[in-house]
Amino acid sequence: GAPVQADVSKLEPGQRMTLEWRGRPVWIINRTPEMIERMKSIDTGRLADPNSEVPQQPSYVTNTLRSIKQDIGVLIGICTHLGCSPLYRPEPDAEGVGTNNWPGGFFCPCHGSRFDLAGRVFTNVPAPTNLEVPPYRFESDDIIIVG
Ligand code: FES
Repeated sequence: GAPVQADVSKLEPGQRMTLEWRGRPVWIINRTPEMIERMKSIDTGRLADPNSEVPQQPSYVTNTLRSIKQDIGVLIGICTHLGCSPLYRPEPDAEGVGTNNWPGGFFCPCHGSRFDLAGRVFTNVPAPTNLEVPPYRFESDDIIIVG
């Protein structure tokens, strides 16, 4: 599969766009400062792999936000349990997520796995690992190359 390009110049804060790479959905999220704060303040005891020790990402994104830039998140949109597509539930008051103190993230409707806005998996859900981060780079401020 050839690399694919995304222009994030029109991606509003808090919004997500989806592209396809190697037949798989890739999500790009423009995380607001508030979202970033919420992720940084999650009790890491709630996360199965808060420091990205399982190799589900390139080595250059093993930081807390699992990204090159803090605001722009890039994730493979496939649940690491059995491959469903998790729903984007970025708001702390999102309904149906089924957990108190939800910091915003992704909720898989198939068996209830939960991931934060960096794709980090919560504990006590079926998904064993964080969402995958594909290889990517910034060609310019607004152009991302995935692959
Ligand atoms: Fe997502 Fe099972 S496929 S929780």
